[in-house]
Amino acid sequence: MELLANFSLKNHNTFGIEAKAKEFIAVHSIEELRKVLQENASKKKFILGGGSNMLLTQDIDALVIHVDLKGKKILKETESHVWVESQAGENWHEFVLWTLEHDFGGLENMSLIPGNVGTTPVQNIGAYGTEIKDTFDSCEAMEIATQEMKTFVHSECKFGYRESIFKQEAKDQYIITSVVFKLTKVNHTIKTSYGDIIAELANQNVTNPTLKDVSNAVIAIRRSKLPDPKELGNSGSFFKNPIVLKSDFEKIHPKFPGMKFYEVSETEVKVPAGWLIEQAGFKGKRFGDAGIHKNQALVLVNYGGATGQEILAVSHDIQQTVFEKFGIRIEAEVNVI
Ligand code: EPU
Repeated sequence: MELLANFSLKNHNTFGIEAKAKEFIAVHSIEELRKVLQENASKKKFILGGGSNMLLTQDIDALVIHVDLKGKKILKETESHVWVESQAGENWHEFVLWTLEHDFGGLENMSLIPGNVGTTPVQNIGAYGTEIKDTFDSCEAMEIATQEMKTFVHSECKFGYRESIFKQEAKDQYIITSVVFKLTKVNHTIKTSYGDIIAELANQNVTNPTLKDVSNAVIAIRRSKLPDPKELGNSGSFFKNPIVLKSDFEKIHPKFPGMKFYEVSETEVKVPAGWLIEQAGFKGKRFGDAGIHKNQALVLVNYGGATGQEILAVSHDIQQTVFEKFGIRIEAEVNVI
């Protein structure tokens, strides 16, 4: 465990933004984490996982603690289910592949999402018809102030669309150290209802898909639409899909009959922000080294030398233009630091 001063975070954020941490330390165990928190009690701290959901717009004037706890194991099983635990620092996609090697079902639709396991509950990650909350059992977290461990069970996490207690009341108070998922061993629920998956499986001539087939289809779809952060800096969806009151939507829709929407409750619909941004003319546009991806307008990209401020400015421009055109406000999904 080595404390590094004036440390570049370029390789620790998937946007590939150059920003510096005043101090940086990577921790590899609960004991190390406790020690760092105890020894640096008075310092301002910033917790860093895989850096896949943040936009750095400035240097971080704090001690950055990189949670690098590794390990995954089967905790218990019944005839039908298995409880698997992953430490927070495991790469999410590698963990998903590990569950699929064991033929455990539940995470396959979330293949290839960038980031580490420990941050998945924070924003209740999701893709292609599933969210973490569907298989999440519990997570362990250390309270920063007391260094005591606490277990958060499902109901305590208050999961919502890209939401949880860790973005609300518990924000900046806990460090998630491990997560337990309850997965199926038999009678897997194969979720192919998401349009793109049906099309991709048909394309591959798969009629009776296995978990691995679904995962492979998701991987193919993501590779075709979403840029690989290793090749082009990005943070996945930059914005959330806005949830609009049906009463408001009914006034907007006649003016834009092509507007896509999904019912989310009796009173609300979700509108794809990617559609709004594309219609507002931003898809594929480039402003210096900051841009909007050519295949998915929800994703902002760094062509190499963009600063966080430049990407933020583009995001504000998009938000304002979308609001002026449609009267719908879109909110950032990534954490702007
Ligand atoms: N669309 C456009 N233009 C675009 C992008 C999308 O018109 O440039 C339209 C599509 O035609 C489609 C609709 O918007 O009708 C939805 O598009 P898509 O299926 O690609 O999904 P999304 O709503 O854009 C969400 C998640 C993604 C996740 C996909 C698949 C959010 C904010 N994003 O995107 O999550 O992979 O669904 O489930 O909910 C992420 O969070 O980082 C992420 C990539």
